[in-house]
Amino acid sequence: MFGLNGKVAIITGASSGIGRATARLFADQGAKVVLAGRRAAELDAVAAEIAMTGSEAVTLNGDVKDEAFARELVELAVGEFGGLDIAFNNVGLVGEMGPITELSLASWNDAVETNLTSAYLGAKYQLPAMLERGGGSLIFTSTFVGHTVGMPGMAAYAASKAGLIGLTQVLAAEYGSQGIRVNALLPGGTDTPMATFKTADERKFVEGLHALKRIAQPEEIARSALYLASEASSFTTGAALLADGGVSINRL
Ligand SMILES: NC(=O)c1ccc[n+]([C@@H]2O[C@H](COP(=O)([O-])OP(=O)(O)OC[C@H]3O[C@@H](n4cnc5c(N)ncnc54)[C@H](OP(=O)(O)O)[C@@H]3O)[C@@H](O)[C@H]2O)c1
Repeated sequence: MFGLNGKVAIITGASSGIGRATARLFADQGAKVVLAGRRAAELDAVAAEIAMTGSEAVTLNGDVKDEAFARELVELAVGEFGGLDIAFNNVGLVGEMGPITELSLASWNDAVETNLTSAYLGAKYQLPAMLERGGGSLIFTSTFVGHTVGMPGMAAYAASKAGLIGLTQVLAAEYGSQGIRVNALLPGGTDTPMATFKTADERKFVEGLHALKRIAQPEEIARSALYLASEASSFTTGAALLADGGVSINRL
């Protein structure tokens, strides 16, 4: 039920963190994977790890803000593996943090384009390819920030990531009758290069915000992505699925 045999999946942000762990898990579960990110060497390293396990992976390095890159990724999936069933649009950027009065328009635009516009571009080319297969699973990585928690200093990140939930709901409603499910995955704090802590105390503080008193390993978030990608979630669409260690409900 959680297996992905015969499926083809695009994973963006596959060079690091949650995307890398998800690429490995999807491949372990039988999917052929198309890995995207800007750093070619890191993507190739993930593809090599996957190849060592006997699964198939191809890579394309580029910027998800670029419409041509979104189209080329889908063309690669179709050209190499014959179609597209799953897309995990997972790229994210926290960007400049601080009071909105000091946030530059350039930083705001960068966060919105990286986190939200990239999702629109991805969906625009992924959905027609999924329709060709008679269905599919489209997933966006959002966050609890801007959904259940208002975090000071994170306006651009929160607004752009919350926008993904609106996009998820509309696409789920538009494509449900054609066999495509669309969901957002909302991780809590996760131990990746994005979650850098200046001090041990800062890390302890963030861990303490979670009911489970720790942050996630990327492999734990990957398992929630697998749930959304696989038939295990066959009646789940339009959802904002929290995998957040209870950071949303915890009151210390
Ligand atoms: N870590 C957390 O605590 C946490 C919590 C909630 C939600 N999230 C979300 O989870 C997702 C994955 O984050 P992560 O924690 O795994 O962070 P990460 O390890 O920093 O990974 C981010 C990935 O995005 C790629 N990327 C960034 N900008 C890109 C661009 N313009 N074009 C193409 N690829 C780009 C990076 O690859 P390149 O550098 O090679 O381009 C990298 O593979 C993000 O959407 C993030 O917002 C993370």
